[in-house]
Amino acid sequence: MNSSFTGKNILLGISGGIAAYKAADLTSRLIKLGSNVKVVMTKNATRFIHPLTLESLSGNQVYHDTFQSTERYDIEHIALAKWADVFVIAPATANVIGKAACGIADDLLSTTILATEAKTIFAPAMNTVMYQKRVVQDNLKKLEDFGYVIIPPGKGRLACGDWGEGKLADVDDIISALEEILWEKKDLVGKRILVTAGPTNETIDPVRFISNRSSGKMGYAIAKACAIRGATVDLVTGPTSIDPPKGVNIHSVESAKEMYNTTIGLYSYSDIVFKAAAVADYRVQEVATDKIKKGSEPITLKLERNPDILLELGRTKKHQILVGFAAETQELEQYALRKLKDKNLDFILANDVSTKRSGFQSDFNQGILYCINGDVETIPLMDKEDFAHRIIDEVIKYI
Ligand SMILES: Cc1cc2nc3c(=O)[nH]c(=O)nc-3n(C[C@H](O)[C@H](O)[C@H](O)COP(=O)(O)O)c2cc1C
Repeated sequence: MNSSFTGKNILLGISGGIAAYKAADLTSRLIKLGSNVKVVMTKNATRFIHPLTLESLSGNQVYHDTFQSTERYDIEHIALAKWADVFVIAPATANVIGKAACGIADDLLSTTILATEAKTIFAPAMNTVMYQKRVVQDNLKKLEDFGYVIIPPGKGRLACGDWGEGKLADVDDIISALEEILWEKKDLVGKRILVTAGPTNETIDPVRFISNRSSGKMGYAIAKACAIRGATVDLVTGPTSIDPPKGVNIHSVESAKEMYNTTIGLYSYSDIVFKAAAVADYRVQEVATDKIKKGSEPITLKLERNPDILLELGRTKKHQILVGFAAETQELEQYALRKLKDKNLDFILANDVSTKRSGFQSDFNQGILYCINGDVETIPLMDKEDFAHRIIDEVIKYI
């Protein structure tokens, strides 16, 4: 479940292109996220994917005929138009885009587009030549000017065998666009937020490094949540294997030293800092220029301290709100409170990383947020994205 989607009414419009099959995945994902989904298809779309598939996945009747008789007396395009919190047309054919741009309403989908007041998103998908035709580009531009949201297609191999622009955007990107619209609290507009995430890698030799188990998921979730709430976000990230959130400025770094330099460089512009990265405390004193060969004797690596980024941020703090993280395996409260005071933080989120259900690699987290004014908020186990919003809810009370 994701609170942006829970109980929200999402109307999905499907038009007649090869990518119509991907609408099944989108429907299934939206249902799993807790939203209600109703589907309206063009007549041609029903030739690409059977309405029964969408009916089964959404748990709702699928609509494709403006004049289909219903048990209740409802004028279908008006009822659907009013029901929707958000309307997404995926895939949107050149034909549907053209009709919407010209105000043509000659079937249920195009009529509903005209009849709704809900925010409407188009995710175009078509052959590259079609997509690049001036008339299609002009129509997309017109839709944008009218206030519709366009999710640009990706590049790749198309079903027709051509290679280029026109592939339906990733379902993940469509879901992110929906989430941005559905999240009602735009309470971080005008704020610039700095988030650090992930581990750092400390080089031993050209092929080896020291790192830690941080996945970056918590920091990425905070960056995404801040962006959804309207902030300008700088995400300073160590090496991770997860996709960076959309709509944030990514600053990729490798070592603790690089993270220090980049973070300090962005600090004076930032209003709030979430320092969720797991920065290596030590680095190798003498990095080998060639690969260290194995031998029978033990080897010793001498480690030296890395700069303490959080300490430096606390020491030079002016207007910023500083939120630290304490990932501990023992005496959580004691370590967290000491860090809160010693490093001049405003908040610290203490979490126990010894449990499998929450912490480093998990998609879930739980913890206790301590504020310097003495407030304590226990946040129970939940999805890291919801967890991020909960932390932000507390922190913005302090602004
Ligand atoms: C096999 C096949 C694949 C098609 N794929 C696309 C496509 O990806 N995008 C598109 O805009 N049109 C595509 N078309 C053309 C549309 O189906 C056609 O323009 C149709 O009139 C669209 O109707 P609709 O917008 O009412 O669904 C395809 C047609 C066929 C036969």
